[in-house]
Amino acid sequence: MEFYKILEMWYLNNKRNLPWRNSSNPYFIWLSEIILQQTRIQQGLDYYKVFTEHYPTVQDLANASEDEVLKDWQGLGYYSRARNLHFSAQYICNELNGKFPTTYKELLKLKGVGDYTASAIASICFNEKTAVVDGNVYRVLSRYFNIDMPINSPKGIKYFKELAQELIQNAHPKEYNQAIMDFGAMVCKPQNPTCETCVLADGCIAKAKNLISSLPVKEKKLKVKNKFFNFIVIDNGDLTVIEKRTGNGIWKNLYQFPLIETNKPVDEETLLKHDFFKNHEFKNMDIALYNPEPWIHKLTHQHLHTHFWIINTKHIENFELTAWKNIDDFAVPKLIHNFLEEYKTK
Ligand code: ADE
Repeated sequence: MEFYKILEMWYLNNKRNLPWRNSSNPYFIWLSEIILQQTRIQQGLDYYKVFTEHYPTVQDLANASEDEVLKDWQGLGYYSRARNLHFSAQYICNELNGKFPTTYKELLKLKGVGDYTASAIASICFNEKTAVVDGNVYRVLSRYFNIDMPINSPKGIKYFKELAQELIQNAHPKEYNQAIMDFGAMVCKPQNPTCETCVLADGCIAKAKNLISSLPVKEKKLKVKNKFFNFIVIDNGDLTVIEKRTGNGIWKNLYQFPLIETNKPVDEETLLKHDFFKNHEFKNMDIALYNPEPWIHKLTHQHLHTHFWIINTKHIENFELTAWKNIDDFAVPKLIHNFLEEYKTK
């Protein structure tokens, strides 16, 4: 039996029961696919529920404020995805008269929609033969066909996309694309794949050659950059200071405590020499390092070594103040959210 048929049959009997699978509404599929790029299915379900309840239509999402959307996205990370969702919802409503694009080519024009998402929406909603290639697909194809080309190299990306595109030609695009992704997530797993009961085992070259655990191949990552963040948590008991981030970084428009970035870890004495403390004088303050061991937040190309410094003072001048009791109203990076969860309960 052909590759696509085996997978489609497997899918018929084994597919996961996911709320968006009952729908061909491109808005819902778009939401689910963007959320799932950021998290596993189990956690994604909760976010999907929040987004579809708060914004049942693309118009509702377009009408929301960016702050609301970021708040609902909080915890997922990579906030540019949420900003792009919001931006594209407004684009669809204002420029396309609320009509969702219906082809791969048109979908690609939406901000935040790349090859994977355009392929997923075009196939699932409009039955276009556009193959998805996500981490699951790389794994299944690299093993079944024994391909050791790095999946994160330009050559590898092109090769796997072309192969995937060939394999979908006789398939039912909606079912086939979701079948191969579910299969990768449930059977052909990164660790401990269930090869003994696998319906593709007979034709799987990596299985025959005992190469399963060495595929897929990834090229070594770029060198990561270390950054040193010192958040200044000013606390008078009731009030604190948070600021909205500007600039174009990943946390654009999120809120944070005043930040002092240094080129290496610093002690209290060095920190207090920073311009921030020259510009803001705190009378009768106590300063204490909250976490002697840095919290390290790992992003694709950078590791953020983070310290929180607590300043207890009754005199906060020249700052806009925020009440601790309202702090949850603000969208903050996950790192700060984690800090708040701990600090609030102390
Ligand atoms: N992962 C992301 N989107 C998916 C989908 N539509 N089906 C299965 N797995 C997925």
